Amino acid sequence: MTQPSIGPTPEEPAGHTSAAARDAGAARADARPRDAAHLLELRGVGKRFGSVIALDDVSVSVDAGEVTCVLGDNGAGKSTFIKILAGVHANDSGAYLVEGAPVRFASPRQALDRGIATVHQDLAVVPLMSVWRNFVLGSEPVKGRGPFARLDVTQARAVARRALLDMGIDLRDVEQPVGTLSGGERQCVAIARAVHFGAKVLILDEPTAALGVKQAGVVLRYIARARDRGLGVVFITHNPHHAYPVGDRFLLLNRGRSQGCFAKSEITPAELTRQMAGGTELESLAHELDAGAAT
Ligand SMILES: Nc1ncnc2c1ncn2[C@@H]1O[C@H](COP(=O)(O)OP(=O)(O)OP(=O)(O)O)[C@@H](O)[C@H]1O
Ligand SMILES: [Mg+2]
Repeated sequence: MTQPSIGPTPEEPAGHTSAAARDAGAARADARPRDAAHLLELRGVGKRFGSVIALDDVSVSVDAGEVTCVLGDNGAGKSTFIKILAGVHANDSGAYLVEGAPVRFASPRQALDRGIATVHQDLAVVPLMSVWRNFVLGSEPVKGRGPFARLDVTQARAVARRALLDMGIDLRDVEQPVGTLSGGERQCVAIARAVHFGAKVLILDEPTAALGVKQAGVVLRYIARARDRGLGVVFITHNPHHAYPVGDRFLLLNRGRSQGCFAKSEITPAELTRQMAGGTELESLAHELDAGAAT
């Protein structure tokens, strides 16, 4: 019987970032003037649900042309974190700033109007609708005026096809229902859609969680592409092997508290994995299992 593999496999894109790409990342980080406001910033943010402290004193910043990764185990507060950024929840304490100004979003629509686009794990697509129809959903091009206004199908198809090609996504057919795309392709369409409609910040909730190694690699490539287009990307994952190759900054959450926010130069892949895997907990479990097998 073959063992399920844990960690990076030869196909895994982890660790494949070239020195040139890393230098480019450093240059991007340096390009921001020291006193310029961050695209997004959380300062000491907290959120409670009744007696549950979902987030406590979390600070992080998101800059244009960078990928901020948020890592944490189940229940760490990752979803709560993005829901605050996306305007679904309001923070109880601390401050949330967009381009330097404090904000208090009453709805996700308000966040979207400020260019903060969120791709949720369930993607909120209509599976039976075609790719192009999903692509323009909510921002449909129309022809005619007033009561005669109707969806401009030709234009919508062309917009979707062009925007997907621009991101290097070559689907066989934009006419096929979204439900027939693979999980990875759906994520890529959602990313291309946010880029096309002018998002400044792209928040992705565990986009690679349900994907195989190859598809995860493809999604990581589009995350990098969105970053290269100048978006600030917030990438939520519990997989350090997915985070490290594309991340510029890593926020580690544990039971609602920040375990630190590290620039890529401050943390090695091994250390990130150790922190995430609850290194010592797994080691002691291994000892316990060995001891159990010996008796
Ligand atoms: N609407 C809510 N009402 C009550 N408690 C909540 C609510 N949303 C989250 N919580 C609690 O807050 C804590 C953090 O939850 P959150 O969903 O943010 O974690 P997560 O890191 O996204 O976990 P997972 O990896 O399982 O998705 C959990 O203890 C959860 O039970
Ligand atoms: Mg979650």
